[in-house]
Amino acid sequence: MAPGLRLLQIVQPYRGLLGLGLLTTFLASLLDGIVLVLLVPLLKHLFGTAGELRSGSTQLETLMHRVVEPIVGGLTPTEAAGRLVVLLVVGLLLKNVLSYASTQITVGVQEGLVRDLRTRVFSHLLTLDLGYFQRTGTGSLVSWIITEVDQTKTVVTASLVALFRNVVVVAVTLVVLSQISLPLTLLTLVFVPPLVLLLQLLIRRLRLHARARAKERAEVTSTVAERVGAIRLIRSYGEERREAARFAAQANRYRKRVIRTQRFSSLTSPLTEVFSGFLVILIIWAGTRPELLGLTRPLAPEAIIVFLMAALRLTSPLKTISSFPAIMAVALASAERVFEVLDQPSKETDRPGEGEARFEREIVFDAVSFRYGDGDPVLSEVSFTLPRGRVVALVGPSGAGKTTLADLLPRFHDPTGGRILLDGVPLTRLTRRSLRGLMSVVSQDTVLLNDTVFANIAYGSPGATPAQVEAAAEAANAAGFIALLPAGYQTVVGERGTRLSGGQRQRVAIARALLRDPPILILDEATSALDTASERLVQQAIDHLMRERTALVIAHRLATVRDADEIVVLDAGRVVQRGTHDELFRAGGLYRRLYDLQFRDKETTLAAGL
Ligand SMILES: Nc1ncnc2c1ncn2[C@@H]1O[C@H](COP(=O)(O)OP(=O)(O)OP(=O)(O)O)[C@@H](O)[C@H]1O
Ligand SMILES: [Mg+2]
Repeated sequence: MAPGLRLLQIVQPYRGLLGLGLLTTFLASLLDGIVLVLLVPLLKHLFGTAGELRSGSTQLETLMHRVVEPIVGGLTPTEAAGRLVVLLVVGLLLKNVLSYASTQITVGVQEGLVRDLRTRVFSHLLTLDLGYFQRTGTGSLVSWIITEVDQTKTVVTASLVALFRNVVVVAVTLVVLSQISLPLTLLTLVFVPPLVLLLQLLIRRLRLHARARAKERAEVTSTVAERVGAIRLIRSYGEERREAARFAAQANRYRKRVIRTQRFSSLTSPLTEVFSGFLVILIIWAGTRPELLGLTRPLAPEAIIVFLMAALRLTSPLKTISSFPAIMAVALASAERVFEVLDQPSKETDRPGEGEARFEREIVFDAVSFRYGDGDPVLSEVSFTLPRGRVVALVGPSGAGKTTLADLLPRFHDPTGGRILLDGVPLTRLTRRSLRGLMSVVSQDTVLLNDTVFANIAYGSPGATPAQVEAAAEAANAAGFIALLPAGYQTVVGERGTRLSGGQRQRVAIARALLRDPPILILDEATSALDTASERLVQQAIDHLMRERTALVIAHRLATVRDADEIVVLDAGRVVQRGTHDELFRAGGLYRRLYDLQFRDKETTLAAGL
């Protein structure tokens, strides 16, 4: 469906308000015309020609005569003029009150549209698969949700209201004009087609640039978002100057694009002004030549004045009406980008036939294979069983596919081959929500939100009481350091938890997993080395976490590996060894090599430390 139509659908709930806006707009424009028309008798009284109905008088004058006569009949010209002025002022005030109301209503509608669209895009993003986020930069998404959505609102202001208002103004004005003099009106209208044609030419170029501008704007936003996130990296490698230069180049490209876009849109103003100038000359010239208009006498001066005023009023609405496609082009370019996000299929929504997950017996990985997109296989026919209440440790060199394998269990991705069975039911037949409700995931790089410690621990357990949160923190060995924070549990941890140390972040994440208290645990141990004391604190927290739980642990810690009921050794996406620590240690092979590399030194250190 065309983006314009889809936007209309989103405006749908506001149709009542929009109707009201259009009504006030209509009334304001009508009053505008009336005020204009009232000028004729006023000028007549001031010129002292009131009451004279000339031959060749227009219908308007006859009508006016009939309407105005009861108001000013029998008054002296000065009194009549005074009364008309009062009427004019009242009309003017009323018109402006209505204009104000219509603007306010329009703002209400447009901001409603923006909010609805923004919320919809954000909610939709939450249903997209992880691959989408890896392909699309954060900056582009931010730009989509903030800037592009904001641009779409001009559709309401530009199209629905401004267009309508100006069409009404043009119509009312044309009626007034034709009532004063039809031939002169027709002469005026000769100017319209060339003006509209010229404007159209500009607009075609404008549309192209608007698209490019939306894209470049997204790039600028992306750069800011990404580079701010990488501030430590930039600083430690002294890349500030190069980053600044890179950004300046980007900002400059954007500047050029905006100027190029503007070049076309700002041409519309001088263009219409030149046309207006010609129009004034033409009207005065033709207005004073009755034979040209087929009249016996020249038009009355007041008629020419009002005609001029009215005719000049046409240019601004005509400009708006003809620039309407340009404004729409810009807004629709933004809308297209927004709908691009909304059109991404929601991989995360539950499908019919998916049931509630329940876990009593075991999880079975049955010849599971996986690849990212159409890349090389990352996992090939991985099989093992994780019985309830047991711990399976995944061990293997970096890049072996351990994290990928663990991601399959909460269905962050689905296997491209083989199956994962929960009590005999393939995971793909279970709703993601119920499945994830059974497990806590502690990921390799700890993710904290820029919120309080309390909120970070209680994330995912909305009903948790302070006592429960504290108990979880206690069990995760985090209570001690939290008590020392400036505001305790109410301390804000900074973006991604940067105001806490690595070990503290890990323990907050473990507390979060503990609080949720799920039957299944997925633990991707952080590889970052901690000092012996922190290591022990974190290890104790992990021990608490794994107690009486079914756990899939990607183990980098000696104690975790030793405690595992089974160790699965992965290499390049294949299971190369399986067994307990003692069995594998004796058997030699990859496990032994990894063990020697990774744990030997630590074991001696730990032994010495204990
Ligand atoms: N989103 C992704 N898209 C494409 N390839 C990916 C993606 N994530 C990981 N890979 C690739 O999959 C392979 C396995 O990665 P994975 O993160 O599972 O390794 P890992 O065993 O957890 O390693 P580590 O011990 O370093 O954490 C790697 O070769 C990696 O390049
Ligand atoms: Mg990993």
